[in-house]
Amino acid sequence: MKAIVQDGYGSQEVLKLQDIEKPVVEDDEVLVRVRTAAIHAGDWLLVTGRPLLFRPGFGFSKPRKRVPGFDFAGTVEATGRDAKGFHPGDEVFGDAAHGSCAEYVVVSEDKVEVKPANLTLEQAAVVPVSGTTALRGLRDAGKVRAGQHVLINGASGGVGTFAVQIAKALDAEVTGVCSTKNVEMVRSIGADHVIDYTRNDFTKNGERYDVILDNVANHSLADCRRALTPDGILLTNNGTSGNRWIGPLGRMAAAAVLSLFVRKQRPPFYAPVRKRDLVDLKKLIEAGKVTPVIDRTYPLSETGDAMGYIGEGHARGKVAITV
Ligand SMILES: NC(=O)c1ccc[n+]([C@@H]2O[C@H](COP(=O)([O-])OP(=O)(O)OC[C@H]3O[C@@H](n4cnc5c(N)ncnc54)[C@H](OP(=O)(O)O)[C@@H]3O)[C@@H](O)[C@H]2O)c1
Repeated sequence: MKAIVQDGYGSQEVLKLQDIEKPVVEDDEVLVRVRTAAIHAGDWLLVTGRPLLFRPGFGFSKPRKRVPGFDFAGTVEATGRDAKGFHPGDEVFGDAAHGSCAEYVVVSEDKVEVKPANLTLEQAAVVPVSGTTALRGLRDAGKVRAGQHVLINGASGGVGTFAVQIAKALDAEVTGVCSTKNVEMVRSIGADHVIDYTRNDFTKNGERYDVILDNVANHSLADCRRALTPDGILLTNNGTSGNRWIGPLGRMAAAAVLSLFVRKQRPPFYAPVRKRDLVDLKKLIEAGKVTPVIDRTYPLSETGDAMGYIGEGHARGKVAITV
């Protein structure tokens, strides 16, 4: 099968289109013919191998998993003996946690769901990682309630475009923070207020928020907390800030330690995709409350360019790869 293969770390040039063996489905897995894959900020870390402190997990000189990509949507081709929830021909979406930038992917049954009826496969492919992060950040970690004022920093990105819509679905009043070119888009997906960060600093404008979801890490934790109401909480969601050695780990460690003593500071949350979250996202999508925002679509052979674009940190919604 055709797949993108990575045999070292670097920039997008390390990603090459090759023919490799089609994966073999295990008992609890589903084999999917991928139609669209999607990439996110975390995929870029695996291309660069940065921060270096992550290398024991990634692989020291090259990634342990050669085929990148988490998100996918496609058609079930075969099922393992114990994967009884799916049948060949089902149109599904899910998170393969590596390997989706390929014609076929095998994935555990509990990371796949039948795609939302009102989405194309391309739209469905971009939902799992970013949608789950936004859902679990706001609903579970943030416990957002109706009427609360929620600020999404990085509202125009992959996570942010889901977060704005999910916060609205939770009946919150929503402020999105983005650059000038994205103000109208963020408003169009439901934000009640939009702050253009090139003109206005949300940590200094005197407004107070009940929940801040920070996807960017461009302000100190203390500055973000000062923009909260007395009972407000700060959700620190960032995997791409910091230097080449420790990356976001310093900020994450600070958030984790501070959360033990400072009520407004919540620990960083990690939101791996679960089937029940895919089901909840599907309900929101089919109810018309959430619609994926796709910025660009690249062919599989140009996955490197797609990754480079994600690495620039200014995607306008999600980036999809047609397989
Ligand atoms: N917790 C988890 O399980 C989990 C899962 C996935 C991702 N993440 C993390 O979530 C973060 C966001 O990911 P993503 O996929 O949404 O990234 P993304 O798609 O690359 O989006 C980044 C967004 O940040 C905005 N931005 C850049 N500078 C900004 C600033 N100074 N103020 C406000 N917005 C700014 C950009 O908007 P403009 O173009 O308008 O500047 C862009 O839309 C990443 O650090 C990622 O590692 C965490």
